[in-house]
Amino acid sequence: MRPRVYITRKIPEIGVKILREYCEVVYRDEAPPPTRDELLKMIEDADAIYCTLSEAIDRELIDRAEKLKVIGTMSVGVDHIDVDYATKKGIYVVYTPGVLTETVADHTWALLLAVARRVVEADSIIRRGDWKIPWAPTMMLGYDVYGKVLGIIGLGRIGQAVARRAKGFNMKILYYDVVRMREVEEELGVEYAPLERLLRESDYVSIHVPLTPETRGLIGERELRLMKRTAILVNTSRGPVIDQRALFRALKEGWIAGAGLDVFEKEPIDPDDPLLKLENVVLTPHIGSASHETRSKMAELTATGIIKVLRGERPENLFNPEVMKVRPLSEVKIL
Ligand code: GLV
Repeated sequence: MRPRVYITRKIPEIGVKILREYCEVVYRDEAPPPTRDELLKMIEDADAIYCTLSEAIDRELIDRAEKLKVIGTMSVGVDHIDVDYATKKGIYVVYTPGVLTETVADHTWALLLAVARRVVEADSIIRRGDWKIPWAPTMMLGYDVYGKVLGIIGLGRIGQAVARRAKGFNMKILYYDVVRMREVEEELGVEYAPLERLLRESDYVSIHVPLTPETRGLIGERELRLMKRTAILVNTSRGPVIDQRALFRALKEGWIAGAGLDVFEKEPIDPDDPLLKLENVVLTPHIGSASHETRSKMAELTATGIIKVLRGERPENLFNPEVMKVRPLSEVKIL
């Protein structure tokens, strides 16, 4: 019998094609996304699940999935999956590192520049018919980027890609991370700084950490108050890394100058969230990796990872290699 794979929502075609070649695919390609009950039911007889970061793969779900051998998530973040529990139960987790790095770095810069130069606000002034004076010396003043200080929190793959782009803007680059990376410091010309110093000295602060118990709420009122009043904060990592209420106050009361946010504590953000009323913030709906090219690569990598596990081969995008000790690949091989 062919293994059963459950795809939780519409994905780029390449992913479906790869999985259909080897598996019986239950493809949930129509909107809206599956309800919790539906997920619980669908996972019952699945050998593999292809999910996104919007489905919480927790203990209850894992316990339901008696046949489950592999969870493939079309994301680089795995905070929506109880990986420790999956590992204990011998379930392999594959994800999409690497392929989205440059695309997320591009989007980080899109937000940074949009906030610094008030691009979204300026666009809406024209559309509203409020552009009355041809060239006004003090109209819509923003902040320079060239030659300023960029603080990167989390110098992993994406943080480094953001730093590489900053070289073109002749910026001084500070970084904070739990580990010091001396080789990278030399290669990229970046300087390590404790978080407090980074916040005090940076004109732009960009966050690139995974969401873990340690990074949840990393940027709260105290940290925001350390920043320059002219500073701009960008977050393309995970919403809960920032205390969103404190950020709202910081933006409203001028502790900082602006923010570019692709991620939020709750997604989708409520339409009546007070952040939406502020002009000094640019918001995008968690689209950091959303380019045609990258989303296809993510779908391909997720699907290939699933197939490799089902074939008893070690995929290069395995998140929890410790699982191989709990249940060796030879025991999950069904292809
Ligand atoms: C997106 O946020 C991802 O984790 O891939």
